[in-house]
Amino acid sequence: MATCRICDTLYEEFISFGEMPIANGFLPPEDFDQEYYFEMKVGFCSSCSMVQLLEQPQRERMFHEDYAFFSSLSKGQTAHFKNFADSLMSEYLTGDDPFAVEIGSNDGIMLQNLASAGIRHLGVEPSENVANVAREKGINTISSFFDEKLAADIIEKHGRADTISSANVICHIPYIHSVLAGIAKLLKPRGAFIFEDPYLGDIIEKVSYDQIYDEHVFYFSATSVSNMIKQHGLELFDVEHLNVHGGSMRYFIAKKGSRKVTEDVQTVLANEERLGITLPETYETLRRNIEGSRDQLVKLLNEIKAAQGSPVIAYGATSKSTTVLNYCNIGPDLIAFISDTTPLKQNKFSPGMHIPIKASDEIEKNQPSHMLLFAWNHMQEIMNKETAYNNRGGKWVVYVPEVKVI
Ligand code: SAH
Ligand code: TYD
Repeated sequence: MATCRICDTLYEEFISFGEMPIANGFLPPEDFDQEYYFEMKVGFCSSCSMVQLLEQPQRERMFHEDYAFFSSLSKGQTAHFKNFADSLMSEYLTGDDPFAVEIGSNDGIMLQNLASAGIRHLGVEPSENVANVAREKGINTISSFFDEKLAADIIEKHGRADTISSANVICHIPYIHSVLAGIAKLLKPRGAFIFEDPYLGDIIEKVSYDQIYDEHVFYFSATSVSNMIKQHGLELFDVEHLNVHGGSMRYFIAKKGSRKVTEDVQTVLANEERLGITLPETYETLRRNIEGSRDQLVKLLNEIKAAQGSPVIAYGATSKSTTVLNYCNIGPDLIAFISDTTPLKQNKFSPGMHIPIKASDEIEKNQPSHMLLFAWNHMQEIMNKETAYNNRGGKWVVYVPEVKVI
């Protein structure tokens, strides 16, 4: 039993993934014996419909000066955030001397577009190493965790904001009420808070359970977001479904009554009702689907190993892969190594299962027949890049939306 972080109702888990390490905690062998684990359980609050982790590790274990996730390594995401910055500038940052705040600005992937257009901006990014990359690009960044107190400091130093945006961050923050209270104060009267996160509707439909890991404490839907923001005098005025990160939703929020609510909000809420997002039985079905996906993946990897006499190679040491590997108990016997382009991850080992991470040039040296695609959310970008592998008949093992070889 746990207490809902949104509405204080008691709720129970619908699945336990067992003991999990820190998803982005790639580590050298000398740290194996001190690795941190927690039991990763997920529950559904039948009162406000929020899906959430029952327990989350302390934030400093996840976000620090060695944070391994650099947003700008993906070309697709760089283009995605350029488009988003353009829409902010054309629709919301149009007044006199507008001011834009971003929560979790990482290496400046979005704000670099506002900075180069000369727009007053501020990035809030607690992981010092990624924040420094942004500063080197000339982006104003403070290394702090956003909360109500920080919002008050920002108002004092910079004034109120026309936009507060955030991508793949709000779902990370358990002290969400402090964040929302800060946002409600920091926004100008007609200001907009726009955030995007992996969408619960996609997780249910695609059984993409690998979106569930330590950093993601919440799995949002338009229904649960509406319930959550109401408590702060805020309302959802628009929504936009996005294809990034395997299916995300962008939520447009403003002070209640300050902006016209679009029809798309009603449409998405009605779709969620049809999908059963408010019903406990939906999550029982999801659990059964997750167990089925796990069993099929392990069976397939064993079959490939038996047929080719060696384990497969995996592509992309994603945070998501930590859930798959540890939940399915897939170790170096089934995956020889994981290829990844992030220098900070290379020559380290995967959290929990301790599979080696290697640079991508190791792939061709090994001439694999099958690769397991962990970075499936970047499929298009990867297929465009891996033409040599594809042309020589290399196969991909995927597990979302179903386990298969392509
Ligand atoms: N917006 C980027 C980065 C997402 S990764 C993108 O979409 O690619 C999540 C980021 O949120 C990390 O850089 C982490 O340091 C930051 N973060 C975590 N908690 C935060 C908080 N309370 N306030 C601001 N940033 C936070
Ligand atoms: P990402 O999709 O952001 O996932 P998560 O949020 O689960 O960490 O991470 C993608 C990872 O895949 C990142 O470590 C970089 C790596 N990667 C490659 O190795 N090659 C590629 O072509 C791409 C696009 C990503």
